[in-house]
Amino acid sequence: MLIDKRMKVKERLLLKDEIIELFRSLKVEKEWSFNGYKPSQTGKWTHSYHRYPAKFIPQLVEKLLDEYISGNDAHINDPFMGSGTTIVTAISRGFIASGTDINGISYLMTKVKSTPIEPTYLQTKINSFNLKLGFLDGALNFNTNKEIQPLIPQRHIERINYWFNEDNKRELGIILRIILEEEDKDIRDFLLLAFSHILKNCSIWLQGSTKPTRDFNKKPAKPFTTLKKHLRKMERGNREFHQVISSEVIKNIDYYLRICLGDAKHQQVPSNSVDIIISSSPYVTSYEYADLHQLSTLWLDFANDLKEYRSNFIGSAFKKNNVFLKLKSSIAIETIKKMKKNSEKIAREIETFFLDIQQVFDESYRILKEGGRCCYVIGNTELKGVKIPNAEIFAEIIQYSGFKLDRVIKREIPLKILPQKRDKETGRFASNHNATSQAYPVEYIVIGKKE
Ligand SMILES: C[S@@+](CC[C@H](N)C(=O)[O-])C[C@H]1O[C@@H](n2cnc3c(N)ncnc32)[C@H](O)[C@@H]1O
Repeated sequence: MLIDKRMKVKERLLLKDEIIELFRSLKVEKEWSFNGYKPSQTGKWTHSYHRYPAKFIPQLVEKLLDEYISGNDAHINDPFMGSGTTIVTAISRGFIASGTDINGISYLMTKVKSTPIEPTYLQTKINSFNLKLGFLDGALNFNTNKEIQPLIPQRHIERINYWFNEDNKRELGIILRIILEEEDKDIRDFLLLAFSHILKNCSIWLQGSTKPTRDFNKKPAKPFTTLKKHLRKMERGNREFHQVISSEVIKNIDYYLRICLGDAKHQQVPSNSVDIIISSSPYVTSYEYADLHQLSTLWLDFANDLKEYRSNFIGSAFKKNNVFLKLKSSIAIETIKKMKKNSEKIAREIETFFLDIQQVFDESYRILKEGGRCCYVIGNTELKGVKIPNAEIFAEIIQYSGFKLDRVIKREIPLKILPQKRDKETGRFASNHNATSQAYPVEYIVIGKKE
């Protein structure tokens, strides 16, 4: 059956030159740029619970749902949840939301952002949490509470010492100990996410940078004061979110929210069950997502071994190659050939990336219903002077997984939303002040249809 379908797709496959021509003729579709949206709109509800670079805005997910989902019941999936934009949006509409991410912090972020908590109950819980820790900002005498032993994950102590001064380490350890005493898991996760968000401010990580760089001139923020402020913001976000969620979803959140920690190539989602996939994949050698959230990974103890942890992240330079698979996209093969002349190592990383993506698209095809669509948001990049046409390659590869290339949307990214730049030499995202070329002035939404 599956083989028959793929044969049909083969007959109407767009080949390399046709794809390149299609992209050449694409015009920017202004209504997909969401120019002029204010941070209060893009960061509404729970969307500003935690910092996260390269997230897409909820308006983009909302528009795709408006275009492609007509009924009241639908199952939405995101294999690369990131900060959870797709999942939060799906839950806000009363849809089933499934998805995965390999990163523990992304899983936690998505779970907390998508789980509405009864506002008065949350307020009581936060008040009592603040009261227990009041001694940290002088509300009570510190000495009266010296029996609270800081909880500092010892297996990561060297890295924690690298990023935090003694006072902040101790204060964070005390806060973490109290958070983990909380018995209600939803409240505990809510507090853990707030804790994770403040780590960067409380460390000597160079503030504007997504790369792990120390700033010895930085004055790290005081943990408890910063946490209390952020909790107030999250509490407001939860109240607004709670208001838009139907009581049916609130009562049965475990039925609607079906997310897990795991690999996008093997989702725990039944075949032929999903109406639409809305996602944005990692980019080849762009962010090292494991490093990006390193402080949370250390404190929340997500990884036994950071090296091993990184090697499962698609797009990471540490990703292991799957030697048994072959690349199907001729645009990818040509790109790799060009890169080989400049760097064998990066050429291998690009090959590994597209082999992984091929498998993610196969998995997308498996879980989608007939008539369902996968929508992947992706931008093109340049590494060592070689253009990497990710979007064209995605458009070519999805066809080999069985999809019909249904539509490609070209959109401008308002700079307010993604003020990111790339380092010309390495192609990696750089901190805002020292980068040399603008990343993603435009990007694409590559849409495949399972017919
Ligand atoms: C571009 S981000 C997604 C951003 C998301 N659309 C949002 O709005 O926040 C890509 C995500 O892919 C995740 N990722 C990397 N390798 C993965 C894998 N093997 N399986 C699942 N997720 C993976 C990263 O952890 C990262 O969160």
